[in-house]
Amino acid sequence: KNIAILASGTGTNAAKIMDHFIGNPEVFVSLVASNKETAGVLDEAVERGVPTAVFTNDQLNDEEFMLNMLRGIDLIVLAGFMRKVPTFLLEEFEDRIVNIHPALLPKFGGKGMYGKKVHEAVIEAGEKESGITIHLVNEEYDEGKILFQESVPVKQTDTPESLAMRVQKLEHEHFPKIIQKLVRSL
Ligand code: GRF
Repeated sequence: KNIAILASGTGTNAAKIMDHFIGNPEVFVSLVASNKETAGVLDEAVERGVPTAVFTNDQLNDEEFMLNMLRGIDLIVLAGFMRKVPTFLLEEFEDRIVNIHPALLPKFGGKGMYGKKVHEAVIEAGEKESGITIHLVNEEYDEGKILFQESVPVKQTDTPESLAMRVQKLEHEHFPKIIQKLVRSL
C-alpha cells in the first residue's frame, strides 16, 4: 500500500514514519507533499530518496491537480499539515486520511489550535495531563473518529517547550504503528 504524507513544518513525525517503513513489504511512503516550499519535511524526504511535491493554496483546492498528485495513494497521512483538507479529498479518501494532534481531543483542538499554542493552552488551563490523539480526518477540524490516544503528565515546572518535547516523544513512538494498523485495515 502506498502512503502520501502531507506536512507543513519540520517533519520530525514524517521522518520517523519514513524510517519506520523503510524496507517494509506492506507500506511504501511514495510521496511527501507540502504547501510550504521551505518546509523542513521536504529535506527529510529528499535525504531519504522519497519523492516530494510542493503545492500552492490554489493547487490544494484544485481537484484535478490534487487527485493527479495523489494517484495510486491508498492512505494520506497528515503530519503537521496546516491547511484545511478540501472536501473533494475527504470524499475521495473517506476514512483514508489520518492526522495526529498533540493533545487529548476533544479538548484543546479545533481551528488555530496547533503546535506551541496547544501546549500553552493546556498549561494555562492547569491540566494535570496531556498527550496525543491520532484520528481520521473529516470535514470539521480535529473531530474525526479517534483511533488512538495516550497521555503524559503535565508537570508544575512545565513550559510549552518541555511539554511539547514529552508529547512529541509519544507522537514519534505511536504514529508509525497506528499507520501500519490502519493500512492493514484498508
Ligand atoms: C506535531 O506537534 C503534530 O502533533 C502536529 O504538528 C506537529 C508536527 O511536528 N500535527 P513535526 O513537523 O512532525 O515535527
